[in-house]
Amino acid sequence: MSSVTSVTIHPSQFPDAVRHELLESLRTRRVNHKFHYDSVKQTQKWLALHQAYSPTRNDADCAAIYDRGFSAAAAGIKAPRVHVIGLGCGGGQKDTRLLKLLKTRGKKVFYTPCDVSTSMVLTARRTALAVLPEQNCFPFVCDLATANDLRKALVTCHPSLVTFFGMIPNFEPKQILPRLASLVRPKDFLLFSANLAPGENYAAGVKKVLPQYDNPPTRDWLMTFLLDLGIGRGDGKLRFQIETDSVSGLKRIVAGFHFTCPRRIEVENEAFAFRAGEAIRLFFSYRYTPERVRKVLTRHGLEVCEQWIAKSGEEGVFLCNRRSRREEAHSPS
Ligand SMILES: C[S@@+](CC[C@H](N)C(=O)[O-])C[C@H]1O[C@@H](n2cnc3c(N)ncnc32)[C@H](O)[C@@H]1O
Repeated sequence: MSSVTSVTIHPSQFPDAVRHELLESLRTRRVNHKFHYDSVKQTQKWLALHQAYSPTRNDADCAAIYDRGFSAAAAGIKAPRVHVIGLGCGGGQKDTRLLKLLKTRGKKVFYTPCDVSTSMVLTARRTALAVLPEQNCFPFVCDLATANDLRKALVTCHPSLVTFFGMIPNFEPKQILPRLASLVRPKDFLLFSANLAPGENYAAGVKKVLPQYDNPPTRDWLMTFLLDLGIGRGDGKLRFQIETDSVSGLKRIVAGFHFTCPRRIEVENEAFAFRAGEAIRLFFSYRYTPERVRKVLTRHGLEVCEQWIAKSGEEGVFLCNRRSRREEAHSPS
């Protein structure tokens, strides 16, 4: 491996844009979840957390649903070359398993690991270089929620296999899905995964998975953002609760820091004063059911061709493509 590498940085992650969003997060008391992956320290904490708690790492059946999805996607791609676009690639472990399979099926593979965090993109690149040559890997840093020219930046002349693993819980679907759909052309495929609420009773399913969030390593990872800004652990309490979105009816697990004493901080020459009793939302994670995933994707012109749900009911992988214009015109949604 060479000692230097080129990483393309989209303007959505230039310092001015990031600074603007950080200040907005503090003013609105709603932290953009991208700020939990910003630093090398946060990336490392999240990767360790993922290794310890993620069902894909610790439940063989959950890992198997990804393998089945990878196999079906590989079978669907008839062209000899394929470009995997890993949106929110994280450490790139899942994408690399997919790349490896495509390669063993005789495909020439290209890979764009894309993430808001430069550390994640570089980690994913390093993981992927085990199976593809450096010149076929194009690390790309961008904010998927704000970059307006993603199609121009990401789509190539080869058929694309877009991956969007574990991303949907942390975005408002209305904000991210039109962007995601714009990257999937008629002959492309999308592999999408979501954390699900297990069981028949949606509310009980969400309650059951709450301990996966409310645990010491997750608390430590989420608190890093506040501690780095000068807020102390003793300034309040981190609480997890379940909320229901009044419009979509989707349930989300929300982590909020509730101040028990006043705290003033200064960021980029702007002062922020938090009163005792006030809270700042640090994180949310929507939990879907397979039906809810299909419904929300259909609404944005994406059709689920096949799905694989873990026996635990806690994770699902969905192979999707673009619905034809005719189907869209006849759709009731
Ligand atoms: C829950 S992790 C999922 C990682 C990986 N896809 C997996 O399944 O292991 C979320 C990833 O999304 C990235 N991310 C968060 N907000 C983002 C944004 N606005 N644009 C691009 N990436 C973002 C984070 O840096 C992190 O790597």
